[in-house]
Amino acid sequence: MSSAAPRASTPDDVLDPRAMREPLPNAWYCVGPAASVAGGKMRAVALNGEQVVLGRAKDGALFALRDRCPHRGMALSKGKFDGDTLMCPFHGWRFGTDGRCRDVPTLSEHDASDFSCIAVQRFPIVESAGFLWVNPHLGPSDLEAVPAVPSLGFEPAGSLVLELEVEASFDLTTLSLVDPGHVAFVHDNWWFRASKELREKVKTFQPVPHGFVMTSHATTTSSPLYRLLGGAPEVEIEFRLPGVRLERIAAGTKRVANYTFATPMGPNRTMLTNALYWSMPALNLLKPIARPLMRQFLTQDQQVLQHAQAGLDRKPTMVLLGQGDLPSQWYFRLKRETLEAAREGRPFANPLVRQELRWRS
Ligand code: FES
Ligand SMILES: [Fe+2]
Repeated sequence: MSSAAPRASTPDDVLDPRAMREPLPNAWYCVGPAASVAGGKMRAVALNGEQVVLGRAKDGALFALRDRCPHRGMALSKGKFDGDTLMCPFHGWRFGTDGRCRDVPTLSEHDASDFSCIAVQRFPIVESAGFLWVNPHLGPSDLEAVPAVPSLGFEPAGSLVLELEVEASFDLTTLSLVDPGHVAFVHDNWWFRASKELREKVKTFQPVPHGFVMTSHATTTSSPLYRLLGGAPEVEIEFRLPGVRLERIAAGTKRVANYTFATPMGPNRTMLTNALYWSMPALNLLKPIARPLMRQFLTQDQQVLQHAQAGLDRKPTMVLLGQGDLPSQWYFRLKRETLEAAREGRPFANPLVRQELRWRS
């Protein structure tokens, strides 16, 4: 981004996704609502090709461990958790929530075998905006993680959360979060777009830590959803690595936030999580109507992404063209800078600058 007119991409700008096809390894990923581990429950999640078991101990502390017993590889999530230790269902080995082996009940008291050095891999886990976030990084911990754990900034009167698994790569799915060009074609819903016409859009983008943000007055948009708020809402859409889209709408003292998170589960398996929060208690009445609309919206993304993935599987190249595709190019620039900074052992430096973009949508 620069103050000069942005360079229009040509079809020669062919990007080979193989270069940086993997999701960022050292970053925080959403692994589901915090409520899913309430009351001493543990659960298994797939994260970046890894199986992880996570839960909350009796004392309230969260834990995330590799879901694999060191003895014979059994999934610990299939066993029992008493709020303090996890018991493997195969031979009863017990592990603390710190991953250390606490007991091997099949050992005779005459057997001096030492299990004190046996441990399950542990991953950092935090809670924010009502969700759990895990960093699956296994390398040296002195490297800076991508701090993508968002907060909400207001007390919600209600929220609506939907998760949908997409059979598409993490990159392809994440690009849909920064892609203005698909909205008119994929999300052509009467309740979302009043007009069928493509209209010229001019928006200013600026860099934020690990991403970029677009700010605008919603009066320039045609969405009936925004008009529901009344007044002249301010809309701010932020994208942050690794795959976090934060849409914040403010109209006077009213607040609405629509957060979308992409989580890599495995190759061509990505979880899309959408969370809508609002500050107005009256909107709680609309929840039964809003849920199917949100599902319709996410399913539209899911279907188109899965078909596009099939095309990329046959030939893994994309042509990123025009200013509407610049945010997609920025995604790859931010990702490359993160990888290069980690490799060179230096802090991340956002390569983007303030820029105005024009497209039709
Ligand atoms: S596989 Fe876990 S105790 Fe044997
Ligand atoms: Fe979409």
